[in-house]
Amino acid sequence: MTRPPNISTTITLAASCVAVLLLGASRLSAQPTFPESPVRDTVAVVCSQCHPLTRLLDSRKTAAEWETYLYDMVARGATLYDRDLERVRAYLIDSFATDER
Ligand code: HEC
Repeated sequence: MTRPPNISTTITLAASCVAVLLLGASRLSAQPTFPESPVRDTVAVVCSQCHPLTRLLDSRKTAAEWETYLYDMVARGATLYDRDLERVRAYLIDSFATDER
C-alpha cells in the first residue's frame, strides 16, 4: 500500500515555494533603499552634498561603473577619508551593483 502524501508536508513545501518566489520578486521590484551598514551614514552625508541621495538609488550600475563613479565623485570634490573609500566602494557595490552574482 502506498501512503497518501502527507498533506501538511505538501502545504509546507508549497508555502516555501511561494515564499521563495515572493522573495525573489521583491528583490527585483522592491524600492531600493540604503542597507544597514557602518558606512551608511558616511554615504548619506557625503553623497548628498551635491545631489539628492536618490541619485544613487535611481542609477543602475555595474560594480565596475560604481567604482568609476565613486572616483569621479571624489574627483569632483566628495570628501572621503582614505580609510572610508574602500568601505564605501564595497558598500555601493554590495548594495546597488546590478551585476549577476
Ligand atoms: C562635489 C559634488 C558631489 C559629491 C559630493 C557627490 N557627487 Fe555624485 N554627482 C555630482 C555631479 C555634478 C553629478 C552629475 C554628473 C553628471 O550627470 O555628469 C553627480 C552624479 C552622480 C550619479 C549619477 C550618475 C549617472 O548615472 O548619471 C551618481 C550615481 C553619483 N553621483 C554618486 C555619488 C556618490 C556615491 C557620492 C558619494 C561618494 C556622490 N555622488 C557625491 C557631484 C557630486
